[in-house]
Order: sequence, then structure tokens, then C-alpha cells
Amino acid sequence: MELLEIMSRRYSCRSFSDKNISRDDLEMILKAGYTAPVGRGAYDQILITVIENKNLLNELDKTGSKFFNGKIKKPTYSASTVILVSAKKSENDLVHYCNASCIIENMILMSANLKIQSVYLLGAIEALKKDSELCEKLGLGREYFPVAAMALGYDSQDNNKVIKNNKIKTMYI
Ligand SMILES: Cc1cc2nc3c(=O)[nH]c(=O)nc-3n(C[C@H](O)[C@H](O)[C@H](O)COP(=O)(O)O)c2cc1C
Repeated sequence: MELLEIMSRRYSCRSFSDKNISRDDLEMILKAGYTAPVGRGAYDQILITVIENKNLLNELDKTGSKFFNGKIKKPTYSASTVILVSAKKSENDLVHYCNASCIIENMILMSANLKIQSVYLLGAIEALKKDSELCEKLGLGREYFPVAAMALGYDSQDNNKVIKNNKIKTMYI
């Protein structure tokens, strides 16, 4: 598919089926993440965690729902895989949020190319930040903090979404 067409067909999926993504597809998606630009080229500040363990995903939903005051019970939308981007704790969180966005968007677009749906997760990860016990179980230790994540898999509703129209205002001067 042409790049702009892949981008236009991407949408946030919020109802995943229980079909797992293949290891080959997962590796392609991760490779796309690795190619992302990162502030000052500080790739060594970043940790990517692939979460496929059902118990940990359930725990992430439980903690994540606190961000939404319990209104969204499963903020990972029952995805079989969540890819978490964490960063080494530092004075400047801003660059880590920008880095995570670049990495995640690359992975989201590669997913779309592979006909795998996804959604960016920020809310649930904000709640995870405050759950040191779960951060520990996710292997972040004291060194890393969770920045943002994406949930990915196959759409249970098999949505045939229309191509996105532009909603962003542009000025030429
Ligand atoms: C930085 C960022 C944070 C987001 N956080 C969440 C989130 O926590 N939960 C969620 O369901 N969607 C989240 N989204 C998805 C947006 O709501 C979605 O991209 C937007 O509504 C446009 O819809 P589309 O992705 O279907 O085109 C996030 C997107 C971005 C870029």
C-alpha cells in the first residue's frame, strides 16, 4: 500500500478480538519503532516492553481504569498485546513523551500496513505510573518510568472504516 493510503486508513481500534498477532508481524512492528527519531539520539534512555501475559494485561486494565474513574473498565480494550514505551527517569520528561510518540506512531503505521489495528494509550499509562507494584512486575525497576503504550491486535467488529478526512487547520503565510 502507498504510505499516504496506509496513514489514511489507520484508525483507533477499541474492540479487539482474541486472535493473536504472529511473531513475524510483531517483530516487523518493533523494527518500525526502532527506526523512529529520538531526541539527541538518546536511544539508550528507552525501554520497550511487549506485554502478552494475560494476568499482567488484566492488572494493567485494573490500574488503567482509575485514570477514567472506572468509566472505562478495560482501557487496553482486551487487546492480546500491549507495547509499552518506558524511559529512564530524568529531569526532562517532555522529550520522553515526544520520543514515545515518534516510536509508537511508527509502530502504529507498520501495524496498519500489516492490517493489524491499534490504539495509542496514554490515560492507562498515566495511572500505571502511580502503581509502583505493577511497574515492578513489568520489569521497570527504579530506573524506568512508563511513558505511553499502544494496544494492538485484530478488530473484533471488523470495521470497514472510511478514509479519514483532514480536520486540522492549516495556514500558508
Ligand atoms: C497522544 C495520544 C494519546 C492518546 N491516548 C488515548 C487513550 O489513552 N485511550 C484511547 O482510547 N485513545 C487514545 N488516543 C487515541 C485518540 O483518541 C485518537 O487518535 C483520536 O480520537 C483520533 O481518532 P483516530 O485515531 O481513530 O483517527 C490517543 C492518541 C494520542 C495521539
